[in-house]
Amino acid sequence: MTITLRQYGDTLLTYLRPQRKRALLLCAVILASIAMQVVNPQFVRNFIDGAMAGEPTKTLIGFGIAFLAVSLVNQALTAIAAWQGAHVGWTATNILRSDLARHLLRLEMSFHNNRTPGELIERVDGDITALANFFSQFVVRIAGAAFLILGIIITVTIEDWRMGLAVFLYAAVTIFVLVRMKNVAMSATEREREASAVAYGFVEERLAGIEDIRANGGGPFALRRFQIILRQMLIKSRRAWMRRSTFWFVLITLFTLGDVIALGLGSELYFSGLISIGTIMLFYLYSSMLWEMVDQIIQQMADLQKAGAAIERVGNLMAIEPKMVDGNRSVMPTGPLSVEFDGVTFAYNDRDKILDNVSFKLEKGKVLGLLGRTGSGKTTLTRLLFRLYDPTDGRLLIGGVDPRDTERDLLRKHVAMVTQEVQLFHSTVRDNLTFFNSEIPDSRIFEVIEQLGLRDWFDALPQGLDTELTAGGGGLSAGEAQLLAFTRVFLHDPGLVVLDEPSSRLDPATERLLEGAMNRLLKNRTGIIIAHRLATVARADEIMILDKGRILEYGSREELVADTESRFYELLTKGLEELEEA
Ligand SMILES: Nc1ncnc2c1ncn2[C@@H]1O[C@H](COP(=O)(O)OP(=O)(O)OP(=O)(O)O)[C@@H](O)[C@H]1O
Ligand SMILES: [Mg+2]
Repeated sequence: MTITLRQYGDTLLTYLRPQRKRALLLCAVILASIAMQVVNPQFVRNFIDGAMAGEPTKTLIGFGIAFLAVSLVNQALTAIAAWQGAHVGWTATNILRSDLARHLLRLEMSFHNNRTPGELIERVDGDITALANFFSQFVVRIAGAAFLILGIIITVTIEDWRMGLAVFLYAAVTIFVLVRMKNVAMSATEREREASAVAYGFVEERLAGIEDIRANGGGPFALRRFQIILRQMLIKSRRAWMRRSTFWFVLITLFTLGDVIALGLGSELYFSGLISIGTIMLFYLYSSMLWEMVDQIIQQMADLQKAGAAIERVGNLMAIEPKMVDGNRSVMPTGPLSVEFDGVTFAYNDRDKILDNVSFKLEKGKVLGLLGRTGSGKTTLTRLLFRLYDPTDGRLLIGGVDPRDTERDLLRKHVAMVTQEVQLFHSTVRDNLTFFNSEIPDSRIFEVIEQLGLRDWFDALPQGLDTELTAGGGGLSAGEAQLLAFTRVFLHDPGLVVLDEPSSRLDPATERLLEGAMNRLLKNRTGIIIAHRLATVARADEIMILDKGRILEYGSREELVADTESRFYELLTKGLEELEEA
């Protein structure tokens, strides 16, 4: 394991510091509980010795009551410790969860493109859940067990030093042997699991390809491989089983040995007249308590290994530095924003240029219609405006400002994007409009709805702003989802609006609403519209046709319409669908 003790300690301290009061209380409660556990067998001893010596019943009952009272208080303390422990553990891991989530969200798209959501969820949740025990219980349990063992050794030594020495040696040997053996048993179990994962993976793959395997007569080969894999699994399972059994065998042996020592040495001392019969009972009780603590330490050590692996993986994620850093410019010009591309080249990976030396200038307040075949790089171009990615080469300016020089949050307040497929969240229409920002009052939402001319549409929703939407936009058509997204971006009053029109066909009513809303949205703003419909193109002041990441044609719409030689003219006469089919 590559995690050092220091790293464990640092992680613990960082996340426990904010709740140190509670953590200290937890320690106090546990220590008190330990003290009670050490004290309680004393009453048993006194009771037995008292009974043997014929002490009055009253005294004996007194011991009994004391025993019960201490047990009850101890139970209460244990409950408090469990409750506080869960609180400390959850609070600490929740802070870590949000730290990690925040860190991951700051990382650029290229990081997220390379990882499945499942993997990240496993990291943010699975790994961190594995740490909950580490935060809340580990130190307490290990320290608690260690203190209890120490307490027992001291108490027993005070009774009789020989017995004390025996307990000490016994505890040391037991812990050492068992922790070592547990590691061996665990690694064998680990290999057993790996073998089983291989076997299942094999079966799954063959079953998925069963048609091809049959068609090619591959059955016998697949079976032969399967047998080899099963044989491997058998060997590993058997080994793991043997190791586990040996472990349990040694465990039981040591356990019995403990009792033998307690009772054997105890009787020896008793017959020599050195201790009373009650003290033998005391030793016996301590011996089983000792045993429980040893067991606890073994469990916690196993857990520590899991926690170590989790800390390492989480640490590795945390160590990834965002490639994209915010600039320190904190103001952007207000009002419509001009857009300028200067030799912009972009590739998602190092090989394929998706945008190739793109240069143009769009004056502020103008609307650019962006056309091009599917895959020509239209959406990619708009992602650069939003700084989801940085150009590989060249630069772009928005309102004369390089996006790399500003804070991304600021940029995204001034540049609004309505994507091809609007993402809706499983929540109310209101939350979908405000992105869960409850500071935006309904009055502001209605104002915007009014301005966009969408009043009637919103009024027709069954419960107005409280209407529940399902994730993935259940109940809304692609066009309606865009209406919602228009309202969303309009709330921020952006200076540049980027619109990726849905390529699917819209029903005429929605289309009309969309048209009206679009007109109002683009008023006094700069717009870049990826157009799939003629009506949309008609709104543009300028036209750009992209082809394989290069500008095929760029010019004012009026000029291009008038030019019968232009590619745009050809598109208009044949219909825009031509583009997709070409
Ligand atoms: N996140 C990504 N990672 C890697 N490659 C990508 C990514 N997104 C898009 N591409 C590739 O970049 C190219 C351009 O894609 P883009 O989405 O910009 O096309 P488009 O012009 O918007 O197409 P459409 O009209 O179908 O929306 C395509 O070849 C696509 O496979
Ligand atoms: Mg696209």
